[in-house]
Amino acid sequence: MTSHPAPSEALVLGIESSCDETAAAVVRGGLEVLSSKVHSQIDEHAVYGGVVPEIAGRSHLRKILPVVDAALEEAGLGLDGIDAVAVTQRPGLIGSLLVGVSVAKALAFTRGLPLVPVHHIEAHVHSASMECEERPWPCVALVVSGGHTALYRAESPLAMSRLATTLDDAAGEAFDKVSWLLGCGYPGGPAVSALAREGDATRVRFPRYRPQKGELGFSFSGLKTAVLYHLRGGDALAATPEPEAIEDRADVAAAFEAAVVDVLVEQTLQACRQEGLERVLVGGGVACNGRLRRELGERAAAAGIEASFPSPAYCTDNAVMIAGLGFELLRAGRVAGLELDALAR
Ligand code: KG4
Ligand code: ZN
Repeated sequence: MTSHPAPSEALVLGIESSCDETAAAVVRGGLEVLSSKVHSQIDEHAVYGGVVPEIAGRSHLRKILPVVDAALEEAGLGLDGIDAVAVTQRPGLIGSLLVGVSVAKALAFTRGLPLVPVHHIEAHVHSASMECEERPWPCVALVVSGGHTALYRAESPLAMSRLATTLDDAAGEAFDKVSWLLGCGYPGGPAVSALAREGDATRVRFPRYRPQKGELGFSFSGLKTAVLYHLRGGDALAATPEPEAIEDRADVAAAFEAAVVDVLVEQTLQACRQEGLERVLVGGGVACNGRLRRELGERAAAAGIEASFPSPAYCTDNAVMIAGLGFELLRAGRVAGLELDALAR
């Protein structure tokens, strides 16, 4: 497999199926997006208020080939025009990952193409770098999504070391759970954020997690519980009110969002100080959040740090980031054999 050249104009087909989006994209030379197709399963999971792994795996199976075909068609290519297949290998829901990995292996085998395994979280970081005018490395990277909230030191797209992670919930997961309490629906992030715009973030104050001095880290379960107790009128044992009966819904949404954003910004800037870096990349679904984009942008700038966010379509799960990072891995010869296995972690 390593005998395949990786021309600077290589056309990489990216495949993503780690959670609840089935996606495929074709990217030329690591940057030029020829096509991007995303099938979201939101409607299938919405009634449950979160992703149901069994439903996700079955839905990927139904959609993956049509999505790959659509991406090739939009790029104006057949499989014979592709130079390599990159696929999300980890982390994610195992039944979902296996669908993408199996399809990628089949395509690589039948076409004799290099197979490039991609780490989903590293791809979220890479996504932000793809829209930067200058190479942003080395930098601090914040990945903030429904499944992950972590800080990295990234020397390059291929060399990232984790600085901190969450002790419990991911930030997106906290948005989804609070959205359920406030009756905003699923996915919670965009819905809570829209409600928050109608509220006053200063009328209620929720606690912010702070790790020990000199340490980095996140925790959102205490914040979620604080929201729950607030809704119960300060009585932990009282019944949780129905969403329509909550008078200060918008204020709660705004105060919750402010608390999450405050913690994310504080820890990211602390990581920059500790690592002596003046560059930050942000990725993952929560990077769509307007308040996070504004506050991190402003507070970073005040500290002489430049923060970059991908455009919203490339914050949430997509296959452009898989093809983009796949190109870098291909150039570095980091390809896999057909024994490649999906890994949940
Ligand atoms: O990266 P992503 O598409 O999937 C994972 O890898 O998890 O992120 C999805 C998460 C969900 O939890 C969703 O509620 C959150 O990103 N999200 C947001 C916003 N848009 C999506 N959270 C806050 N504000 C938003 N505007
Ligand atoms: Zn993701």
